[in-house]
Amino acid sequence: MNAQTGEQKLPTIRDYFSATQLRADRWSALREACEGMQRNGVSSRQGKKLRTTALDLMEALAPIETYWAFPGAAVFENLRRLLAQENIEDLSVSVRRIARALTSGAYRRRTVPLNSSEIDNEDYEDEAALSPEARALGRPYFEVLIVDDVAEQHERFLRSSLQRMRRSEDPFIYEPVVVPSLEDALLGILFNHNVQAVVIRPGISLKSKNKLPILDEYVSHLGQDEEVDSLAPSEFGPEACRLIAKIRPELDAYLVTDRSVEDIAGLDLGRCRRVFYNQEDFLELHLNILRGVTARYKTPFFTALKEYSKQPTGVFHAMPISRGKSITRSHWIQDMGAFYGPNIFLAETSATSGGLDSLLEPRGPIKEAQDMAARAFGSKQTFFATNGTSTCNKIVVQALVKPGDIVLIDRDCHKSHHYGMVLAGARVVYMDSYPLHEYSMYGAVPIREIKHNLLRLKAEGKLDRVRMVLLTNCTFDGLVYNVQRVMEECLAIKKDLIFLWDEAWFAFARFGPSYRLRTAMRVANTLRRTLKTDETAAAWEAQQKLLKDADDETILNTRLVPPPDARVRVYATQSTHKTLTSLRQGSMIHVNDQDFKGEVEEGFHEAYMTHTSTSPNYQIIASLDVGRRQVELEGYEFVQRQVESAMAIRRAVTTHPLLKKYFKLLTPSDMIPEEYRESGIESYYDPEQGWLDTWEIWSTDEFVLDPTRVTLAVGGTGWDGDTFKTKILMDKYGIQINKTSRNTVLFMTNIGTTRSSVAYLIEVLVEIANELDDLLDDASRMERRSFDNRVAALVEHVPPLPDFSRFHDAFRDAGETPEGDIRSAFFLSYTEENCDYLPLDDRLMERLNAGEELVSASFVIPYPPGFPILVPGQVISPEILAFMRALDVSEIHGFRADLGLRVFTKDALASLKSRDTEGS
Ligand SMILES: Cc1ncc(COP(=O)(O)O)c(C=O)c1O
Repeated sequence: MNAQTGEQKLPTIRDYFSATQLRADRWSALREACEGMQRNGVSSRQGKKLRTTALDLMEALAPIETYWAFPGAAVFENLRRLLAQENIEDLSVSVRRIARALTSGAYRRRTVPLNSSEIDNEDYEDEAALSPEARALGRPYFEVLIVDDVAEQHERFLRSSLQRMRRSEDPFIYEPVVVPSLEDALLGILFNHNVQAVVIRPGISLKSKNKLPILDEYVSHLGQDEEVDSLAPSEFGPEACRLIAKIRPELDAYLVTDRSVEDIAGLDLGRCRRVFYNQEDFLELHLNILRGVTARYKTPFFTALKEYSKQPTGVFHAMPISRGKSITRSHWIQDMGAFYGPNIFLAETSATSGGLDSLLEPRGPIKEAQDMAARAFGSKQTFFATNGTSTCNKIVVQALVKPGDIVLIDRDCHKSHHYGMVLAGARVVYMDSYPLHEYSMYGAVPIREIKHNLLRLKAEGKLDRVRMVLLTNCTFDGLVYNVQRVMEECLAIKKDLIFLWDEAWFAFARFGPSYRLRTAMRVANTLRRTLKTDETAAAWEAQQKLLKDADDETILNTRLVPPPDARVRVYATQSTHKTLTSLRQGSMIHVNDQDFKGEVEEGFHEAYMTHTSTSPNYQIIASLDVGRRQVELEGYEFVQRQVESAMAIRRAVTTHPLLKKYFKLLTPSDMIPEEYRESGIESYYDPEQGWLDTWEIWSTDEFVLDPTRVTLAVGGTGWDGDTFKTKILMDKYGIQINKTSRNTVLFMTNIGTTRSSVAYLIEVLVEIANELDDLLDDASRMERRSFDNRVAALVEHVPPLPDFSRFHDAFRDAGETPEGDIRSAFFLSYTEENCDYLPLDDRLMERLNAGEELVSASFVIPYPPGFPILVPGQVISPEILAFMRALDVSEIHGFRADLGLRVFTKDALASLKSRDTEGS
């Protein structure tokens, strides 16, 4: 909006993805309008227009401000009065100070003087710009939502009663915000990321008086509309507790009630920390609020490590870097000490030197830190790993799969799984993801494909050997499964299946309410609850009758209901370091398995020992501990911001006329075929309608696209993905990305992405487009033709992605099902005489076309796409060969251009007898 002319209409919530950004921009628009009035005079033509703008902005801000402690409802009312009185000078000062304090975060550290009579040097810095030491010295700030429908005077009393409880020794400082109703409580926790605790009092009412489209949208997706509408007033409080736990489970709720203890005792109160019966006991409430936040703030291992680093110790074990001794005494590596500073070396130690816990047998602060992570991520047990999710995956597979067990797995999964299968001796069923040929990438595995494989195995009587379904969620490109549907339908076919969800890219998802619906741990907890209900039993029995003589096609077309006695056996591995705060390689394994204690624990321990270093890095463990603290206190805020940044990129590229010429931003409809998009939604942003409702999509569709993974098709520039990444983005503009396909690049926003880095990216893309425009303007006909040819090669002539062919019979069990013994194939190639090399030439293609069976002896992994297009024991199909020959990537692991494809000799294959179904 232009504050000078005041002519454009106000942006609405539809123009924004989150209300927080809308709020920030409205405040700065209000500041501009006030300054404009001051400059032009309020009674000038221009001044009058700006006055209307300011009035509109205040009107629009008013309902949002009721959910924030700063500047607060009273101050906001005063601003309105100042405008009504045309006291523009005072208004301008106050609005400027508020807008600045909101952007800098200064209100978190001190009282911001808002009256022009109060001195304010206004030189406060941005919170983020303060030194870490300065910030660590200040007390962290948060807000407490009090829900009580009371008159203004009583509201003031509530606020001041809590403020009066403040003591100098309090570890945190907080401000109360009072809202009247259950709906307001939910909106408060959705809008205001500063809220860490909610106090629900007996006067709570049901409906919000604020009428905003965004409010309706949020409320309608809580999915409880009708149930909530029919509640008795005495139920509002308990229901508020339950709904808060659904939306932001990390928050502490406190219920103040006048109902009897017996009445309350049996109720589900979500994550309510305490029930108070005395409405006036503010000290007790204050202490509980602080204790609740302290419980999340605590970092047992990081704190222990800090303490350890302060202690004087003599080092008489093998670790010269410990306490920096080998560096400080050095004449040649002083720069290392200068670069890292002393603390990292003071904190270098090992479990054997005592004092700190051991990752391999945690009993002290590491155990405590893991338990806290389990709470934060919704698991029953959480294990830290200091060597990435690559290792976590191998641990989980080894712990659960024994030789001969069948595992269903997405064939474009991370390579750690393929190696895990080799180590465990699993019989592998590779499932194909749907291909996106146009962009040379894979999607995800449709539920139909998973069920189809399970049904085939069932038909051959092999279901009892099927142990695990392993899927990547979300995929590198951001495709997200409907986790609940996958688990329910699979359990309907085999009720004790184990699921391993590779959430390497999805640790942050727990802290966004719609994302959370599709995380393994959340769904595991939901299933634990829903499987036991009478409704599930009735639905299952009814479906059993219906499907009694059903053929496979009917079963494939039916949304299956799991039996009530199905077991919940769910594992998730997460690269904390990829999406949250952790040093490189910091990862977690989350377990939610009803049979873990009885059946798995021992094996898990062995697997953990197999793969974990006896010298784990303590700094990584400490960073996992701190990363957990962060998400429990500000994960919600950061994830919101991350999504907002991604949406800003999406909007800019979709609407910019020049960018549209050379780039295409891939939308859900480009990356998810229609049959998997039940909502029918095509794009997150529509220039006409603004943002579409992502909540709906996330609760219905078979696949959704994580909006924070922004795939940009760059074929229109004439550069392939890899060249665009290295030569243009990295070398020229210093922009780093890590995934490309033949004609796309992937931009990811993360919890550290700032608004200015988004702006820089857009600027760079515009500059690239401008340069291309200039280049083509001056191009000769020949040059133009060459450009068009390059574009056509990238956009139109993309080699189709090959499916997984099959394992050679020598590595197959008896029967028709596809599971293969990857381990035998892997080790067969260890004997050099078993292998031969074949160049990728026409002769090879002729041999394949003539029906000859050639079998790969190794993994062949081209980058991109980065997953094996051949695994040991796999038959090479003409399609795979054609794909390899068309690939113009420089990096193909497992393939030597000077020798050719490594295949098994006929003799080697013949030496393996046809195999029986028992494990080797
Ligand atoms: C899906 C998936 N799983 C696992 C990993 C391995 O994770 P880490 O780098 O933490 O070992 C990756 C790495 O890119 C991945 O993309």
